[in-house]
Amino acid sequence: MNWDETGPDTDERPHLDDPLDDRLVDAGADGEDTAVEAALRPKDLDEFVGQEKVREQLDLVLKAARARGATADHVLLSGAPGLGKTTLSMIIAAEMNAPIRITSGPAIQHAGDLAAILSSLQEGEVLFLDEIHRMSRPAEEMLYMAMEDFRVDVIVGKGPGATAIPLELPPFTLVGATTRAGLLPPPLRDRFGFTGHMEFYSPVELERVIHRSARLLDVEIDVVGAAEIAGRSRGTPRIANRLLRRVRDYAQVKADGRIDRDIAAAALRVYEVDARGLDRLDRAVLGALLKLFGGGPVGLSTLAVAVGEERETVEEVAEPFLVREGLLARTPRGRVATPAAWAHLGLVPPPHGGKGQQGLFGA
Ligand SMILES: Nc1ncnc2c1ncn2[C@@H]1O[C@H](COP(=O)(O)OP(=O)(O)OP(=O)(O)O)[C@@H](O)[C@H]1O
Ligand SMILES: [Mg+2]
Repeated sequence: MNWDETGPDTDERPHLDDPLDDRLVDAGADGEDTAVEAALRPKDLDEFVGQEKVREQLDLVLKAARARGATADHVLLSGAPGLGKTTLSMIIAAEMNAPIRITSGPAIQHAGDLAAILSSLQEGEVLFLDEIHRMSRPAEEMLYMAMEDFRVDVIVGKGPGATAIPLELPPFTLVGATTRAGLLPPPLRDRFGFTGHMEFYSPVELERVIHRSARLLDVEIDVVGAAEIAGRSRGTPRIANRLLRRVRDYAQVKADGRIDRDIAAAALRVYEVDARGLDRLDRAVLGALLKLFGGGPVGLSTLAVAVGEERETVEEVAEPFLVREGLLARTPRGRVATPAAWAHLGLVPPPHGGKGQQGLFGA
């Protein structure tokens, strides 16, 4: 076997205690985020960084509606966690000078819950429905009619005596957000006048997010310091803001509070977020795949046992980003490391490209 000089050292095998609770690079919101996010949220389209296409298209939709004195068409925003869907929904309300009501799919389990919300909307109000793919079926069907005809049928009574009482609704704008656009039934998707798909942000865009947040947080940061954080933020503004706050802590405790490249790099070394944004868990998975299994292919369960994690954790928490980064591939025969993975961990691939790996990525 041809490992690097250190060889596969089982004692080095990582012991991860609940990586889900303390992952700095998790794109989902945690308690601290929710508080800070409100303060860091861009308030209008001009302040909203990146997403040029969505911004331009949405700008037209909103301007045209404003010019007609009408309520804007229903908007669906799809994209990975932390890319700005909630932020954009609030901007839509602000740009339309309309109040916003916020609820979410899981909160609406009965059609009655939805009827109560819909019937209390004001004219022109924006109804933000987060995680719209997680609404119950009956509520979803009620929503179809509400979106199209601004009407709901409220069922009164039970059994054979039940009657449907039609209820007129004021015109409103539904803004739906989903991380899983593919899970939306087509009839629902078709009722949105505009669908914006949010992409991951480029490092340059994330630098702008970081500079903006640093200004709001009153932190001094230079251009290379911001670039250093941006490069590790996995294309996600929420992660960029979170890393910025951790680097700020470090800068305050270990230096004079200013952030430059060295401070940013040193801080993120402490938090174990590497130059590409991989954290402990990601590196553990990749490390096991390379060092214990010669780069694969290896089955998911085996890989999970090797890192001492649940299958689901490896599959749903670590792998998506590794796949996106082109470091790991899911193949019918198992997980396979790409040449970039070897390079990233500074390891030398075995001469024959790992067991059975030939043909997948060349020799
Ligand atoms: N385009 C942007 N410009 C500047 N900051 C942004 C942008 N998009 C998002 N952010 C920042 O990232 C944070 C997370 O954004 P937001 O809550 O809107 O994401 P989300 O898509 O709704 O995530 P989730 O899917 O978890 O609900 C916000 O606090 C905001 O400060
Ligand atoms: Mg959100």
